Amino acid sequence: MTTDYSQVSDTAKRVEHLVEPRILEYLESIHPVLAGMPAETPFTIADYGAADGANSSRLFGNSIGYIRKVHPQRRIRLVYVDIADPAPFNRFWAQSHLAEMENIEAQYIRRSFYEPLGSAGSVHIGFSSTSLHWLDTKTISAGFFRHPACIQANQLSGYDRRKFVEKWKSDWRSFFRERSRELVGGGMLWLANLTSFGGDQWPASPGYNNLRDICRTLYDEGCISREELDNIFIPDYFATPEEMRNLVEEDAIRQHFSLKYMDTMTVPCAYFSRACGSLHDAGQRHRLAHSLARVVRAWSESSLRVGLSPGHAGLVDEIYKRLEDRFYEVPQGLPYQYCLMGLVKEV
Ligand SMILES: C[S@@+](CC[C@H](N)C(=O)[O-])C[C@H]1O[C@@H](n2cnc3c(N)ncnc32)[C@H](O)[C@@H]1O
Repeated sequence: MTTDYSQVSDTAKRVEHLVEPRILEYLESIHPVLAGMPAETPFTIADYGAADGANSSRLFGNSIGYIRKVHPQRRIRLVYVDIADPAPFNRFWAQSHLAEMENIEAQYIRRSFYEPLGSAGSVHIGFSSTSLHWLDTKTISAGFFRHPACIQANQLSGYDRRKFVEKWKSDWRSFFRERSRELVGGGMLWLANLTSFGGDQWPASPGYNNLRDICRTLYDEGCISREELDNIFIPDYFATPEEMRNLVEEDAIRQHFSLKYMDTMTVPCAYFSRACGSLHDAGQRHRLAHSLARVVRAWSESSLRVGLSPGHAGLVDEIYKRLEDRFYEVPQGLPYQYCLMGLVKEV
């Protein structure tokens, strides 16, 4: 993920507003627990796949505000988990309003959320937004993520898609196993997951489909090899809400978590919504195309680089230039479909 992620994620930012009333309701429901917690025990909130931490800061700030109404001096511990370099988080935290609050400690753990965090039984609220579609690339050989015609699992169907669905299930089982060890009894896991509603209704599909077509054209033009075309693959999968529900209802997960809340929604593309009334203006259209290509670049560039041979690294700029041109010719929004889930850890 790019280092300026919070600058190119206006669509994802919306979801925190949708989750917030649910989290505040939950906090209200555990009012007696909050009031009775020993002073030395920090109330711990973990953000799995936090990026630089900026996008959850409003949500966390308001949750802390609620907790402090019940218990003004309550110690709070924020745990940010991500595989990315900590530098963007450190920059965010240095100027964050959260850091200025009293009795708050923050920790950035650079680790996969599919692995143990080593904080058994201490997390009160686990939160994850726009992250759990990333598959665990560490537990499978690099050759797993390749396809001759497509660059992402949701573009596939039937047999070709099945192995990615199985991989997603296995990764999510690991995620829930680890969280079941970390969360306190009665603690809550809030997940805002990108999801697929079928057909082309999956997150940012015009971005993925344009990239696929550009890669095929580059191959037809002889600019990249067959091997590179096969190897360019973005290792994520947008499961359907049914797949998510079925998974959390498996016995091994259900014995630890009960699903209390589930809802689906489409968040319109923030960039397209702002510009769609002025697309007759070439300047506005260019700005929109530029923003959309930047958004797609944020989550796809590292996968392109993995697929291209070292001698072709210079093609990366050309690919995103072509993407911008396509968005200029045919402006399309990148809406995000979400499945929100709230699960309570069994006591
Ligand atoms: C699209 S960003 C979402 C960031 C933020 N949660 C938000 O809602 O704006 C996805 C984040 O998940 C992280 N990520 C992907 N796979 C991960 C993994 N296995 N473990 C931890 N973080 C991961 C990426 O590094 C990236 O920062």
